[in-house]
Amino acid sequence: MLALTALALVPLLAFAAPTERQNGLTVVNNCYNSGQVALTFDDGPNNREGDIANALNSVGAKGTFFFNGNNYGCIYDHAQTLRDLNAQGHTLGSHTWSHPDLTKLEEWQIHQELEKVETAFIKILGLKPRYFRPPYGSYNDRVLNVLAQRGYKKAFIWSDVTGDALGDSLDKQKSVLNDVANQYPAPKMVLSHSVIDSAVDATWYGVSRLRDAGYQMVAVDTCLGNSGEWPYEYVGQPEQPNDSWRC
Ligand SMILES: *[C@@H]1O[C@H](CO)[C@@H](O)[C@H](O)[C@H]1NC(C)=O
Ligand SMILES: [Zn+2]
Repeated sequence: MLALTALALVPLLAFAAPTERQNGLTVVNNCYNSGQVALTFDDGPNNREGDIANALNSVGAKGTFFFNGNNYGCIYDHAQTLRDLNAQGHTLGSHTWSHPDLTKLEEWQIHQELEKVETAFIKILGLKPRYFRPPYGSYNDRVLNVLAQRGYKKAFIWSDVTGDALGDSLDKQKSVLNDVANQYPAPKMVLSHSVIDSAVDATWYGVSRLRDAGYQMVAVDTCLGNSGEWPYEYVGQPEQPNDSWRC
């Protein structure tokens, strides 16, 4: 009887599985294009994004920044950073407002974590993000369904981590980037953190090493080839700062 019940439940559960996220949301674990690497930087904005961008720009690389609303810094205090990175052709995505593990939250809380970052992007850039990285790479069906409902197109994980946020030394971070370079032309998606001081020097090292290996350093929307898309939805003109621009 028990066995029969269990068997009967399997197809029922499969049939009942939510399908909203099939509406255009894909979890991406790596770049798709051979010869391309996406350098990605999480947890900002704070004070190091300009330095990271200088390293990227020095070799014509495009990077991807997954920003929080209020983690190391308040996004509204760094509005100019968003404008600058966007103008320089780097890609900006959402990394939640306060960096929680989304699998521990109720659905309404997940919506709130996403909505507050969307509001900030819309005020500052006039653009709503469609690309997302879950904090800790942690997600489940509920998270993906909320992302899909809100119009997100991609949830990005990564292929390699430099270890900056784990407190790994600069030498250790360089050795990770060196290992990545040695795997040319395998597609790669590297996780770093723009809020960690050592990530700046690691990025200067990485861009020259990866360039010399032959890699093109592109944003995540480019390294997916035809599966990529414009990472935003156009909403309107950026707004003027006022009292609502606070965390
Ligand atoms: C801030 O500006 C926006 C539009 O630019 C406006 O809708 C909103 O009411 C303003 N808020 C405050 C607190 O001034
Ligand atoms: Zn993070």
